[in-house]
Amino acid sequence: MDKIVVQKGAKLDGEVAASGAKNSSLPLLFSTLLADGEHKLHNVPILKDIDSTFRLLELLNCKTQREGHTAIVTVSESKQREAEYDIVRKMRASILCLGPLLARYGEAVVSLPGGCAIGTRPINQHLDALKQLGAEFEIKGGNVHGRVKKLTGGNIVFDGVTVGGTENILMAAVLADGETVIENAAKEPEIVDLCEYLNKMGAKISNVGSSVLKIEGVKSLSPSEHTVIPDRIEAGTLLIAGAITGGDVKVTHCVPKHFEALTNKMREAGFEFVESENSIRVLPTSSFQGVDVTTAPHPGFATDFQAQFMALMTQAKGSSIITESIFENRFMHVQELRRLNADITPKSRVAIVRGPCALQGAPVMATDLRASASLILAGLFADGETTISRVYHLDRGYEKLEEKLANLGANVRRD
Ligand code: EPU
Repeated sequence: MDKIVVQKGAKLDGEVAASGAKNSSLPLLFSTLLADGEHKLHNVPILKDIDSTFRLLELLNCKTQREGHTAIVTVSESKQREAEYDIVRKMRASILCLGPLLARYGEAVVSLPGGCAIGTRPINQHLDALKQLGAEFEIKGGNVHGRVKKLTGGNIVFDGVTVGGTENILMAAVLADGETVIENAAKEPEIVDLCEYLNKMGAKISNVGSSVLKIEGVKSLSPSEHTVIPDRIEAGTLLIAGAITGGDVKVTHCVPKHFEALTNKMREAGFEFVESENSIRVLPTSSFQGVDVTTAPHPGFATDFQAQFMALMTQAKGSSIITESIFENRFMHVQELRRLNADITPKSRVAIVRGPCALQGAPVMATDLRASASLILAGLFADGETTISRVYHLDRGYEKLEEKLANLGANVRRD
């Protein structure tokens, strides 16, 4: 099985382009199920999770094709309405076919996604909201069986902000009879991207980008063409890589506004940036302060940056208190960072990081996607060699991270 080997090296220097957003591409690919014909999505990253989505779409009678970073999905009516366990267990986002299948065919069978390393991740809010649009569910043999004669608009108020829940309901409501209002909707840039593509297909979604989305159901949608937004989490991870080595790294093809909560925290710590609409450069800084962060839904500090930010904070002067408020078990990287000699005390959902700390290379294990990135970042600064195993987590969500880092001067390779 592949391993990533990182050695402490030079300060990173140069330019690197962000790829398209994984968490935008996945719902966009599932949204194609809503309209027969040829959909063209540009800037789709080359990742394992995208391959899994293609497999699932193919089982649902779609043809999928890749031309570099363009994905072409040709959709035709499907007799198959089931997302089976073998795919769902590999990728939880498979649940995003529930809304489109119910909207298109009034029927969907989706294997219940289990918990994952970062938390139990229930889907109760997806199901409750779809019930309000008229769907009925039954759990049989580990699968959710959903059925509805015709979805009808309704007023949904989410108990807690849910990205996937908002996406599923959007994709169901666009073809429902009448108007749906989603209150306490997620406002992530990926939700905005999905709304934009749905509207290009002929949907009528207004208040896009706000926490109250209004959807006027339409009879049918037509396929269209769209360019996926840049991956804000990848862009921020590359920026932290520059910062942790005291380097000078410019990330291009990104939207700095999408990850302002991260850069604001880094500014508070003492970093400086040169920013344009589509690029951001972190300037070399030899010393920075510890700052506290609490993860929150967008526009707050993204949980998907928490692990990478923790690696950065091991090199800050003083303590930083990191609070994870979204997922109940997203501190699996703490024990691995401690193997590298980081001084971190975790307690429930809070971790106290005391820096700066002389990290020392060691063999460590990736536990989830963002934890893998965190360990690579720490490895860039740890004395000697850090070997990260279970990198299949990394391949689910970062396109060629080790190559991008090596091009910036990092001593990193895949074994
Ligand atoms: N939740 C419920 N019930 C639900 C849905 C969510 O209790 O029905 C809870 C979750 O357990 C969690 C919180 O609500 O505690 C937020 O979950 P959300 O539904 O927003 O997360 P998601 O849609 O499953 C997406 C991203 C994650 C990212 C989160 C939060 C995709 C494919 N995944 O997950 O990305 O961390 O939003 O921003 O978009 C990653 O890329 O590494 C990743 C994990």
